[in-house]
Amino acid sequence: MKHIDIKNVITSQEYVGKTVTVCGWVRTSRNSKSVAFIELNDGTSLKNIQVVVEKGDSDFKEPRVGMAVKVEGTVVAGRNNTVEINITPDALTVLGDAPTDYPLQKKGHTLEFLRTIPHLRGRTNTFNAVWRVRSVLAAAIHRYFQEHNYVYVNTPLITGSDCEGAGEMFQVTTNGFTTEYKTEEEYYANDFFGKRAGLSVSGQLEGEMAATAMGKIYTFGPSFRAENSNTPKHLAEFWHIEPEVAFMELDDVIELAEDMLKYVIGDLLKKCPDEVAFFDAHFEKGLKARLEELISHEFGRVTYTEAIELLKKSGENFVYPVEWGCDLQTEHERYLSEKVFKKAVFVTDYPKEIKSFYMKQNPDGKTVAAVDLLVPGVGEIIGGSEREADYDKLIAAMQERGMSMEPYADYLDLRKYGTVPHGGFGLGFERLIMYTTGMANIRDVILFPRTVGSIR
Ligand code: 4AD
Ligand code: MG
Repeated sequence: MKHIDIKNVITSQEYVGKTVTVCGWVRTSRNSKSVAFIELNDGTSLKNIQVVVEKGDSDFKEPRVGMAVKVEGTVVAGRNNTVEINITPDALTVLGDAPTDYPLQKKGHTLEFLRTIPHLRGRTNTFNAVWRVRSVLAAAIHRYFQEHNYVYVNTPLITGSDCEGAGEMFQVTTNGFTTEYKTEEEYYANDFFGKRAGLSVSGQLEGEMAATAMGKIYTFGPSFRAENSNTPKHLAEFWHIEPEVAFMELDDVIELAEDMLKYVIGDLLKKCPDEVAFFDAHFEKGLKARLEELISHEFGRVTYTEAIELLKKSGENFVYPVEWGCDLQTEHERYLSEKVFKKAVFVTDYPKEIKSFYMKQNPDGKTVAAVDLLVPGVGEIIGGSEREADYDKLIAAMQERGMSMEPYADYLDLRKYGTVPHGGFGLGFERLIMYTTGMANIRDVILFPRTVGSIR
């Protein structure tokens, strides 16, 4: 169907005086004696275009909210540098009717209600803005890595090895319920892959294999976590950006994370001023200033051990008590980034017991070269580390955890053949969107959220 994007018509004066065809969904419709006003949106922009129908003495029937229509008319200059389209009644074609039970008749629905209509919520301003921010940030992330010599790789989604060892893998099986098998081994041996398989929680292990060939790689794909945590920041299926780089030590990993985030958020501020202003007005007052501040100042930095001291002397009444060796909970992460540093802060060198087997062991014998990035409002958005490059130390860490070596044979080979210092991190894409939009619930920053106990 020949038509022009509404975004193009409203962002340039070049169409004024010309005849254009636009299509879209009716957001509002007002009728008066001689004219009708229709706000039309085709999704290409947060702003609608106003269509003015010169009714004359025709019996023009105004379209209902939610209808899909096509209009052809003349672009005219409106007030405050805006443009509108003037049409005659017969220049409106209804493409798709929307009866009066269309759920988005009225404005001002709650986010909770909108979650019950995921197939329609993209037609609201809020989700129009969220979905575009996702797209613009995704493109910026690719551009950043591509311009810095990184190779984009696609790591497998089905895997035989658990990267994080946290027992959060969804099982992949074609073997339904049966009492036929006597042992677990027998059951898995008869399954599709001949062994136990699951959905990958992270592409890191394969990412390391690629990085020790291509030098600098990144992945951008889904990861899956069967975490039984019904929180505002956990999804069962989330999008994961994982750069992995040969010859990078922990400090280099931190530098990369900060540089990349500043670049992509800077790009967002440039490309999505309307969306950022929208979130600032409706979801987080001061969002724009916060993002501008973030990209022009250094992130904070603290070791885990120092962070524990800060938390202990905070005088706060945390639900989870703080002691050296404990994992940082969201309340601790938010206290550090919101109250102590008042900005994004890297926490490094965590106790080895609370981190994964692959992290480089520090000389103190107690901590590993890990880094998490904590941000106000969300908590952890990045988890990364330098990797253990020494074969014997890696084996020892796996043995301490009682891990089976067999699924990690290829991974261990990397430490046998031309091993190098290397490292990387994982950025949760939805957590980044929460942070850059001020949306408080992760269910509202992905098109179709998958969370424990909920799928459609
Ligand atoms: O800290 P995580 O578990 O680290 C890893 O997976 C490493 N293998 C990454 C690496 O070094 N290549 O996860 C990384 C990030 C978290 O900081 C968080 O932003 C996000 O992934 N994440 C989740 N996002 C939404 N829902 C979940 N259930 C998430 N689990 C992790
Ligand atoms: Mg983590």
